Amino acid sequence: MLRRRIYVTCPLPPSVKVLLSDGCDVTFAGEERVPTAEEIVSGTLGHDALLVTTPTRVDRPLIERLPPSVKAIATYSVGNDHIDVDAAAEHGLAVFSTPDVLTDACAEATMLLMLGAARRATEAIALLREGRWQGWTPVQLNGVGLTGKRLGIVGMGRLGRAIADRARAFGMAVDYHNRSRLEPGLEAGAGYHASLEDLLRVSQFLVLACPATEQTRGLLNARRIGLLPPGAIVVNIGRGSVVVDDDLIAALGDGRVAGAGLDVFDGEPSVHPGYFRLPNVFMLPHVGSATIETREAMGQILLDGLRDFWAGRPAVNRLV
Ligand code: DGY
Repeated sequence: MLRRRIYVTCPLPPSVKVLLSDGCDVTFAGEERVPTAEEIVSGTLGHDALLVTTPTRVDRPLIERLPPSVKAIATYSVGNDHIDVDAAAEHGLAVFSTPDVLTDACAEATMLLMLGAARRATEAIALLREGRWQGWTPVQLNGVGLTGKRLGIVGMGRLGRAIADRARAFGMAVDYHNRSRLEPGLEAGAGYHASLEDLLRVSQFLVLACPATEQTRGLLNARRIGLLPPGAIVVNIGRGSVVVDDDLIAALGDGRVAGAGLDVFDGEPSVHPGYFRLPNVFMLPHVGSATIETREAMGQILLDGLRDFWAGRPAVNRLV
């Protein structure tokens, strides 16, 4: 049987490496750092597929220079804003991602962010770890609860709906804004707001679960933050570019926004220094999907998609 060759630009968990290597010859080129475009162009010579993840920019110039043997780009992520998908399609390249399999892990992480921000986890952890805790008192680190609160979700795709399910279990009422209204069967009682502004006005908790696009860049700016109920909690599990950092930092600084839970950052891995000065921000380093089960499922869905492609079958995770 023909052994396909895959060039990988990111580190992968050992079990995923074993999985990919079953039946394929895999070049693991991203163990220490992300290879440069030049290295990818020369390294992919004779390979059938390029496997990347979010820090590898696969832009038009790189796509145009890929060797002719490369017929597929697979991204080890559900987001695809780092790939020029249109350019790939124009050059006859198939693109694969990892839909569905990150949903539960990211929805769980969203609850962690909501709880961490609402219950002042950053301050609590610091108090304990810095040896400043002097014992229980009724006035110490009182936050706000989720029960009975109204949650607004921006972006009601698979992730938004999984967050809504979990939030309902916490006793929250769910509202959402999305490019288009969901089928009634998928809404599960969530209130649709055709206008983002209307959603913001009722969102005591706001979760951003939308992808990075030209339309969502800078979506949460000072004007829109001003529409949130006073003391709202803002959570970002989508992409950093959706938030205007200076505006959110100003609102967190003067208490108009009571807290934020952030897993993603514009320009990551660098993080706006203003966030580190704020005790009411609970931050994670883009680990929303970081469970071993999810990582293995991501490897499996990419491998299945590539195998389907090579066998001439349609693949569920093919973007173009
Ligand atoms: C994704 O899969 O898009 C995650 O955010 C990791 O980048």
